Amino acid sequence: MQKRTHMAGELSEGVVGSKVTLAGWVARRRDLGGLVFIDLRDRSGIVQVVFNPRVAPEAHDRAERLGGEDVVLVSGTVERRPPGTENPSIPTGTIDVVADCVEVLSKSKTPPFYIIEDLDADELLRLRYRYLDLRRPDMQRNLIFRHKFTMAVRRYLDSRGFIEVETPMFIKSTPEGARDYVVPSRLNPGKFYALPQSPQLFKQLLMVAGFDRYFQIARCFRDEDLRADRQPEFTQIDIEMSFVDRDDVLALTEDMMAASIEETLGVRVATPFPRLSYAEAMERYGSDKPDTRFGMELCDIAKAVEGSGFRVFREAVAGGGKVAAIVAPGCGGFSRREVAELEDMAKEFGAQGLVSIAVSRGGEGELEFRSAVRKFLSEEELQEIVRVTGAGDGDLILVSAGPGTVVQNVLGRLRLHLGSRLGLIPENTMAFAWVVDFPLLEFSEEEGRIVAVHHPFTAPLDEDLDLLETNPLAVRANMYDLVMNGVELGSGSIRAYRRDVQERIFRALGLGPEEAQEKFGFLLEAFEYGAPPHGGIALGFDRVVMLLAGRKTIRDVIAFPKTQRAICPMTGAPGPISREQLEELHIEVVNGERIDPASNAQES
Ligand code: AMO
Repeated sequence: MQKRTHMAGELSEGVVGSKVTLAGWVARRRDLGGLVFIDLRDRSGIVQVVFNPRVAPEAHDRAERLGGEDVVLVSGTVERRPPGTENPSIPTGTIDVVADCVEVLSKSKTPPFYIIEDLDADELLRLRYRYLDLRRPDMQRNLIFRHKFTMAVRRYLDSRGFIEVETPMFIKSTPEGARDYVVPSRLNPGKFYALPQSPQLFKQLLMVAGFDRYFQIARCFRDEDLRADRQPEFTQIDIEMSFVDRDDVLALTEDMMAASIEETLGVRVATPFPRLSYAEAMERYGSDKPDTRFGMELCDIAKAVEGSGFRVFREAVAGGGKVAAIVAPGCGGFSRREVAELEDMAKEFGAQGLVSIAVSRGGEGELEFRSAVRKFLSEEELQEIVRVTGAGDGDLILVSAGPGTVVQNVLGRLRLHLGSRLGLIPENTMAFAWVVDFPLLEFSEEEGRIVAVHHPFTAPLDEDLDLLETNPLAVRANMYDLVMNGVELGSGSIRAYRRDVQERIFRALGLGPEEAQEKFGFLLEAFEYGAPPHGGIALGFDRVVMLLAGRKTIRDVIAFPKTQRAICPMTGAPGPISREQLEELHIEVVNGERIDPASNAQES
């Protein structure tokens, strides 16, 4: 068999006249005027190959029988295309390879979908035949970009003295908010390993071990509800550093992102990234992961309506709640139905209701207001709302009143909805922001107890330390989130590296000394053997690549992802195991139905 000499997409007019041998897939075949044309595809791109019966009769006969996705080895001569037949839509569009022989290396059945760019096919089908989906040029580009970004990050961190260390995959369960995936131990009946939700404790122990600067492109596992930006197994750029404070970690992360983006995309992003406190992010954007690509910020109008004739506003202020507004520019003419849709949406987000005020300019130049509650609102009050929100002729003011967190959440989500619907969010922008000064602890309604906002190993701000016992929910954390375009890219913190501080945090979380010892005794013990002050961060690598590659889901930048139900439609994982395997593992499945692997294909 001849050997490949060139890649298809790399051929150019510079090699016209050369003999080449190419290997790849038949992307398309056309028979025209006695000639056979094939588009030959390999990883680098596509080139047109021409089979002329007068030049090479045998090759032409074989080419006539080629089908889509057959794998071929073709030899021929690179020629400039005859004038008028160039194809400017592909980089090799000015040349052809005039074939003198072709060998079929492998035949293909008709694929279940077209192997083309920007395919609009059912994702389940794409995942079922992922090897074909990955053959599509945009998916190849995504994974190649991912590879390049990994290399850029590794190079950058290596150049800054970071050591990559692999931490174990079979660990003791140390929950970080999600459920663990567990692995039974054959040698230790009734015992289970957990797969790591992150390398958190190991990277801290590496600091105690004196590694000073650690990183890992680390696989993490979380059994949680899946969404477009969540997978049960995903990858983090995980970093930990000793003898640093918050600003050192932020500066390093910014520099790493800027350097890697410049290396892979050739784009310079400005550093330092803007910083917002958690309180400010919530006040201005109604979200702890603000999309700062556009304005439409929340405005506090409590002052304007504290004496309102509208009871809902007045009582919200009196009850310590919030009254805030966003302005939807140019939406004053929304129909009753459009406004009702926004109200329904607000209710879905947890609001009791939503007040809308349409602003327009009357004949005399004065502002006029249209609202279902118009008669309860005084002229002065409305003028003050306009002044505070900056609303003008043709705008729609949307007001939410109630408990602070509800108001922020409702307006924050309406802001995103309207921003996208009104086309206010610029594409191709990278709006990075840090959110800092999160609370250390919060009350979880779901669990009915105090939980860590980040994880229990985060240090409180020094000045808030003594609130741990007196007012734990007021303690601010030495923690930070990196956000881009409204997506949480990463989280990190300076850690509680002293045993006494760590124990106080456990106590505030309602973890008794015995339980703390049982779960985290090894960490507390390590802190007694000279633990350096340390801190770090982890970036969701799949999310970083998704955003930079301009995709809407991390599934598009993961080679073999799972569905929303944590299933792999191609292999049928998870699948049943044999009775022998179960017995060896000392496991009995109670009420476990045998799952028919074929039925997985039905799930999404
Ligand atoms: P955290 O839990 O915030 O922090 O995770 C860090 C980042 O990982 C990404 N991420 C995910 N990506 C895809 N699928 C998921 N299921 C998923 N879950 C999280 C997010 C997130 O910001 N040990 C700490 C870091 C530290 O303190 O250093 C940690 O794991 O982008």
